[in-house]
Amino acid sequence: MAVNVIAIDGPAASGKSTIAGLVAERLGVPYINTGNMYRAVTFYAIQQGLNLAACSEEKLSPVLEHIKLDYVKAASGQYEIKLNGEFPGAEIRSPEVVSLVSLVAALPNVRTWLIDKQREFARLGRIVMEGRDIGTVIFPDAQYKFFLTATPEERARRRLAQDGEAPDGATVESVAKAIAERDLLDSTRKTAPLKKADDAILIDTSGMSIEQVIEHILRYIK
Ligand code: CDP
Repeated sequence: MAVNVIAIDGPAASGKSTIAGLVAERLGVPYINTGNMYRAVTFYAIQQGLNLAACSEEKLSPVLEHIKLDYVKAASGQYEIKLNGEFPGAEIRSPEVVSLVSLVAALPNVRTWLIDKQREFARLGRIVMEGRDIGTVIFPDAQYKFFLTATPEERARRRLAQDGEAPDGATVESVAKAIAERDLLDSTRKTAPLKKADDAILIDTSGMSIEQVIEHILRYIK
């Protein structure tokens, strides 16, 4: 039987987080952003002084032993990530974290460490879970699977419009380049690469409004 999960995957800055959050809100179900887990691990490793440009499973494994990740219901009513007991806030969206997260997310031991935590959310009943490998690896038997994309230029424009995500002085061209680098790392890694599940519904959101994408998704969901 299919698991009661709405999986939303796609490349960087394709609008997944906005869409997944709003779809969950309309349906009145929890929304789980798995990218924040990889970002939290990366942020913590940076704080510990690790040189992540040359990261490895060996370097990360003692770090994982000291990390406690929880998702708790915040004042907003939504589930938010806690890193060692505290809400990390905007720090996990800093340009430094963004530039290193795909290197950390490529490590098999980091992914294995997160798989059980991600699958545990199925106990909440229907959820919307967003990431890169939800429909392929975490919940291959999810009831609904969507894969969101948009042209690189559109994604760069969206990312630039988001506060704090792009470094000072960034341009559409520089952001598009950084996004392309992250997509390349995410889609070519050996473990759980970014990939559309064969049975996922592909939505190219270029030129679509947020409301149009949400309505498109909700039409499929019973
Ligand atoms: O918001 P944006 O699409 O830019 O990124 P995110 O969803 O917060 O994910 C940040 C990074 O975490 C991605 O570039 C991937 O390297 C990694 N990630 C992953 O490997 N698997 C997931 N399920 C979610 C994120």
